[in-house]
Amino acid sequence: MIDVAFLGTDVRPAAVAVVIDVLRATSTITMAMASGYERVLVAGSIDAANELRSPRRTLAGEVRCARAPGFDLGNSPEETLEPRTPELVLATTNGAPAIVASAAVADEVIAAALLNLDAVLARLRGVDDVLLVCAGTDGRVSIEDVYLAGRLSAGLKRPRTDAARIAEVVAASYPTARNALEASAGAVGLRREGLESDITFCAQESIVDSVPRLSAMVDGVAHLTIAEIPAAEAMTS
Ligand code: MLT
Repeated sequence: MIDVAFLGTDVRPAAVAVVIDVLRATSTITMAMASGYERVLVAGSIDAANELRSPRRTLAGEVRCARAPGFDLGNSPEETLEPRTPELVLATTNGAPAIVASAAVADEVIAAALLNLDAVLARLRGVDDVLLVCAGTDGRVSIEDVYLAGRLSAGLKRPRTDAARIAEVVAASYPTARNALEASAGAVGLRREGLESDITFCAQESIVDSVPRLSAMVDGVAHLTIAEIPAAEAMTS
């Protein structure tokens, strides 16, 4: 069954939890891994990220969309295009806690963005128990995350809950991904900080063919690496 949690705080056990924070945490994670960071360490808070400082790590994160004080980078996916160190540490308001919460209850956790939409669909092919976890914005349901949940649900073409059908209806009501992102509360915060170029960047579809996947939880920090191709796919490719 395909189901949707409309907020990161609504996670429940599932075979695969797909965490969605289009603006911008899962877009940044997806881009960082595609750009060559070996690992993204997702921390549940700014303080937890600060404790992970080391010469082999770049600290990225935001407070109210702006770069967190003393951090190397903000939460813009484009800032990760040229890796500075082997590992990226990321702390954000909603997306990072949603990943940490999903890690506590799901068998497998992956990160989805529009940037890797087709790769996520391929990864989920044949999986029966999928929870699409929308991170939301400041504790509220967000259009852009529900939009992507709807696109994923529609693309999976599997039995689904009413929550998944609702997400599909939301997705179908926007002519383009860009329209959905522009209409969201997350976009308001980004415009306030002069970061509207992130909206354009995060609206790009399937420019990355890899999927970040939880590989370990270490002291409450989620370690994400690139997912291997599912066994079934590898045998047919
Ligand atoms: C979050 O985790 O709340 C978002 O990624 C916020 C942002 O756009 O930086």
